[in-house]
Amino acid sequence: MKIVSGIRPTGVLHIGNYFGAIQNWLTLQGNAECLFFMADLHALTTDQGQDIQKSTYDTAALYLACGIKPGSIFIQSHIQEHTELAWILACHTSMGWLNRMTQFKEKASNKEKANLGLYAYPTLMAADVLLYDATHVPVGEDQKQHVELARDIAISMNSKYKHDIFTVPEPMIQKMGARIMSLRHADQKMGKSNASDYERINLLDSDELIIEKVKKATSDSFPTLPETMNELEDRPAVKNLYTIYAMSMKFTMEQTVKYFEGKNFAFLKKELSDALINVVGPIREKAKTYQEDRASVTKVLEEGREKAQIKASKMVKGIKDILKL
Ligand code: AQP
Repeated sequence: MKIVSGIRPTGVLHIGNYFGAIQNWLTLQGNAECLFFMADLHALTTDQGQDIQKSTYDTAALYLACGIKPGSIFIQSHIQEHTELAWILACHTSMGWLNRMTQFKEKASNKEKANLGLYAYPTLMAADVLLYDATHVPVGEDQKQHVELARDIAISMNSKYKHDIFTVPEPMIQKMGARIMSLRHADQKMGKSNASDYERINLLDSDELIIEKVKKATSDSFPTLPETMNELEDRPAVKNLYTIYAMSMKFTMEQTVKYFEGKNFAFLKKELSDALINVVGPIREKAKTYQEDRASVTKVLEEGREKAQIKASKMVKGIKDILKL
């Protein structure tokens, strides 16, 4: 298996990124060839004027603190072939395909003012994975459609040029934790750019802040906690808290429902903050050490860049030959 995945450095990573992506990467890196990058070019679609470079280094520090192996981490914009291939793919992507991408509809509140990069970013994402012959792309549920687009582009170009130019990648969606919801709005995804910091638990949050955020998290107005899986389905806010607890403790949902049966909301929140502190605490402390040692993070990124560059150059040269560029 060849795995490629990335996260946009648009703020501090949160437990949605951790449970929805990074935890999966940690399992995969023992069994597959992996590349994990900081998607700074994707950050540019929404975060213009922000210090993307600082966020990129902070994200790299968090990758390392989470346990991602040094040789596999690089910065997207350091490899020019991502943008070069994205253009080639864009010339082979129909507007009809892009018009179907639901993320653009969600992220662009005003279509006339939305930038072209935001509209076209699924082609950049396709380039990110096709460039390295990825066989599998671990993503959260919201990104599945983009991996399917990458598949469509790969299949259509392979057929058009009668050549196995690209490996056709598969999306990898984990069963639980693929969509952690906001702590305040159970119908919205937890995200780095949610309006309030109290909607998410960041991987750099202090223990005190985690306790406070969990205390203020929305539950519901039922008098007791759910006793069955069926009951849980009708209670989205509690289901979200259970999911976060289950992911933190490596429990199944069934085990979680059983564990909290007959207990009250105060017990749930105390247990949940303890569990989160156990996950976030060690990551936060290691990340601080990496953030203070920028030289060693730079060295890691250079090592990752060199490795990725060799593959990217070879792939783009091969494509240019086939396309007669
Ligand atoms: N809430 C989530 N639950 C599960 N997985 C999530 N991911 C993001 N949020 C959740 C997964 O993390 C990976 C990287 O995400 P990204 O930063 O590249 O894109 P995003 O979805 O735009 O992330 P955010 O945190 O919501 O950032 P903003 O608010 O800036 O848009 C992906 O695999 C994603 O599915």
